[in-house]
Amino acid sequence: MTTSITTQLPFARFRRLRRSAALRRLVRETRLSPADFVYPLFVVHGQDVREEIPSMPGQHHLSLDRLAAEAQELRSLGVRAVLLFGLPAAKDDAGGEAYDDDGIVQQAVRVLKSADPDLVVITDVCLCEYTSHGHCGILSLSKDGVPDGEVDNDSSLELLARTAVSQARSGADLVAPSDMMDGRVAAIRAALDADGFVNTPIMSYAAKYASAFYGPFREAAESAPQFGDRRGYQMDPPNAREALREIEADIAEGADVVMVKPALPYLDVLSQARQRFDLPLAAYNVSGEYAMLHAAARNGWLDLRASVLEALTSIKRAGADIIITYHAKEAARWLQDEA
Ligand code: PBG
Repeated sequence: MTTSITTQLPFARFRRLRRSAALRRLVRETRLSPADFVYPLFVVHGQDVREEIPSMPGQHHLSLDRLAAEAQELRSLGVRAVLLFGLPAAKDDAGGEAYDDDGIVQQAVRVLKSADPDLVVITDVCLCEYTSHGHCGILSLSKDGVPDGEVDNDSSLELLARTAVSQARSGADLVAPSDMMDGRVAAIRAALDADGFVNTPIMSYAAKYASAFYGPFREAAESAPQFGDRRGYQMDPPNAREALREIEADIAEGADVVMVKPALPYLDVLSQARQRFDLPLAAYNVSGEYAMLHAAARNGWLDLRASVLEALTSIKRAGADIIITYHAKEAARWLQDEA
């Protein structure tokens, strides 16, 4: 016997709860909030600098004297955490300014913490902005003392640990190693503890891929490698199981927060990490992800507000507790309008 379609009428089911903005809001599974966001800042030497980064419209290089105003704006928007990157006065083989107590990032931490003690100040721990060769560690030397083009894992650890300790000494609330050397979380934890910074947590860029989406950042941070690329230390994009092993290792070494980076092209990795691990999980919505939406919106091809909020909501839905994003300020403004 065949059932006539009319016996199944009415079909109404899922659509009942989609009929008004108020109902949709009530049954929403994921809610984005400015409290989720970490806003990256690029700090430079000099006075009165607020220069737009061409590949990242709306993002600026800021000098120290501009940071208090920035902190105030972030507070008014409900964005309560920043991630600091520094452009040093000079670069050298060993990235000396990264671990100088008077380096640009160390000074920026002090300025921000005195402007707003409640602001969570996170510092990126890496050498690539500070080295003349642009790599995230130091180069190994051949027998006759000439760099052989390799980034040396173990000798880089000591300088990364010094960087983290120096940042903690300046008052950083959280240090975030992004270099992808093996063993760096353990090295940084041991160095922090030895210097009395037992209460400074580590947010590890645990699953950081060798991604093409970092292009605009490298222009902003002047940190592009001068030879070769980062594939010898950052993760290979096709690998997801390996990301879970990286995260597991960083947790075992003492990471307090773990990160997947980039975000949108790696939501599968983020989602698997969420299912497997209970630690706070961060996702880095990187410079190229930001630049894509802004470029499309400038051409009239995408609605900026709708596409940004959808992208950020998707990152949260996939499992991120913390979203590091250049969209933080504009998104916080839009969320305020909606509230
Ligand atoms: C430093 C670092 C990079 C980013 C964050 N920390 C660049 C890189 O690894 O080349 C990229 C962030 C972004 O693209 O927004 N190692």
